[in-house]
Amino acid sequence: MKIGIIVGSTRPGRLGAQVAQWAYDTGQAADLGDVELELVELADYDLDLLDDPAVPGGAKRQYASEKTRRWSEKIDSLDAFVFVTPEYNHGVPAALKNAVDVIWPEWNHKAAGVLAYGYDGGTRAVEQWRTILPAVHVHVVRSQISLSLHGDFEDEQTFVPAERRAKELRILLKAVAKLGAAVSTLRA
Ligand SMILES: Cc1cc2nc3c(=O)[nH]c(=O)nc-3n(C[C@H](O)[C@H](O)[C@H](O)COP(=O)(O)O)c2cc1C
Repeated sequence: MKIGIIVGSTRPGRLGAQVAQWAYDTGQAADLGDVELELVELADYDLDLLDDPAVPGGAKRQYASEKTRRWSEKIDSLDAFVFVTPEYNHGVPAALKNAVDVIWPEWNHKAAGVLAYGYDGGTRAVEQWRTILPAVHVHVVRSQISLSLHGDFEDEQTFVPAERRAKELRILLKAVAKLGAAVSTLRA
């Protein structure tokens, strides 16, 4: 079971990179059984805004853009995901939404958990992901993590997670792994 920890912010200086690195390191140190973690920096893929003449759901992975094909291969190689997401203007970040939109079968019947951060825990973004992800047949676990820019960061810049976060992360990763294994049977 390979779980990709996706850094959903592409902003220079993104806090999401610190959060995702912590999730990776903490997950590596936990006893998660047959689970392999991988950090995925969305910014490295430099995706353009949906620019393919073919609708992704019908494209059969034959994307016009080389950037999209790279992204497609990465998502294909993963069984499940942790979406590390900021909340922008009470919603999901556009770059990560676009990254979901540009491909289709690569997401199908895989599990995900949402690890959000923001002034109010990024909970509005989490709720939006709970609506969006099932549209690409990503099954979202009930557990979630809502980090506070006040309580889990020093000066809203340096990630210093509250003590309970490591336990929350283990619970989230275990739930993702379990659901990921269950829904993999739905894949063709
Ligand atoms: C365009 C934009 C909109 C934002 N809107 C919100 C918001 O609605 N709620 C919130 O809690 N924080 C909001 N913030 C503050 C972010 O939580 C904060 O900048 C955080 O560092 C963003 O994550 P990132 O650094 O990984 O990009 C916003 C930041 C940006 C750049």
